[in-house]
Amino acid sequence: MSLVRIVGALDPHVHLRGMEWAHKGDFATETAAALAGGYTAVLDMPNTPPATTDSQGLERKLEDLGRNARCDYGVWLGAHPSGVRPPAELARLSRRVCGIKLYCGHTTGGLTIGPSQMDRQVASWPGPGVLAAHAEGESVGVFLAALARHGKRGHLCHIDTARAVSEVAEHKSRGTKVTAGVCPHHLFFADRDLPSLGPRGVMKPPLGTRSDREALWEGLRQGVIDVVESDHAPHTWDEKLGVPTPFGVPGLETTIPLLFTAVKEGRITADRAVDLVSVAPRRIFGLDPRPPGTYTLVDVGVRWTITPESLYTSCGWTPFSGMEVSGMIRRVVIRDTVVFEDGEVLAPKGFGSNLYDDFC
Ligand code: DOR
Ligand code: ZN
Repeated sequence: MSLVRIVGALDPHVHLRGMEWAHKGDFATETAAALAGGYTAVLDMPNTPPATTDSQGLERKLEDLGRNARCDYGVWLGAHPSGVRPPAELARLSRRVCGIKLYCGHTTGGLTIGPSQMDRQVASWPGPGVLAAHAEGESVGVFLAALARHGKRGHLCHIDTARAVSEVAEHKSRGTKVTAGVCPHHLFFADRDLPSLGPRGVMKPPLGTRSDREALWEGLRQGVIDVVESDHAPHTWDEKLGVPTPFGVPGLETTIPLLFTAVKEGRITADRAVDLVSVAPRRIFGLDPRPPGTYTLVDVGVRWTITPESLYTSCGWTPFSGMEVSGMIRRVVIRDTVVFEDGEVLAPKGFGSNLYDDFC
């Protein structure tokens, strides 16, 4: 056995679904997937029905998560296309979430906002959490400029192009307080894989060219990109076969094994892999110091082949099916309790805690 220990692995970008989208996945099944994938905590995105954009939506989600989550969690507030919440409500909401997500490009959930709204949202966010954006093409620059103009701290989700990597690099060098994340599907696939992936290759942002992909790896090595986030977004296979094909792929159970495969191939070091899924996300999303008695053991000596049957996610498919990876999750421990061991999820529903109760 060749074990690597990751303290408090955190996936800051997941769509667990639940509530009115429980047929795609629910808080119990998808947090089981998180544990099986080696994560002790996840941050759930707001583009759900009901949307997590006001007090009611937040209460509904926190209540459902509280009853069902098997791992620790935080919740993203979402900016609503109708505008900024009244300041007193926003101040109250902001203390119960990890940050606010701005959808600056069309995707699942109908929360897209335009450039002028983006500026207003950035200006009015009180913190302490992070402003995060889904931005593609031109809107990457608009978000970065808004952060710089208002002196706010932000995170650019799932960057996907060489151009976005250089825009982030330039802003970082000028002192803009920005971090960036990348998804495994953008690191391991490119648009030339679309014919073989079919609906499994449909997500937002879409797959880029091979040179985009190489720029993402380079961005990871150079520290322009700070975290790896799965963007775990289950849809049923029937839905994926529909027209139009919904955007999104599951990723919670494949991200850490894929990263250790990249370590084996010499693309990144093992320390960098641990940094990308634990040290950096915990620092960026306000969860330092890393929690005692909360860790994952990965056996990096084991090679295995990803199949849909080997996964806990309720959607029953994965774009990584058939890929041979290095790195088997052996054990996951949260607050000294073993919650996953050798293929079995042991945490009951409701075991997980909200990491942002009264976030200051
Ligand atoms: O592919 C995606 N799926 N990208 C997103 O931005 C949203 C997500 C989803 O919720 O399905
Ligand atoms: Zn997402």
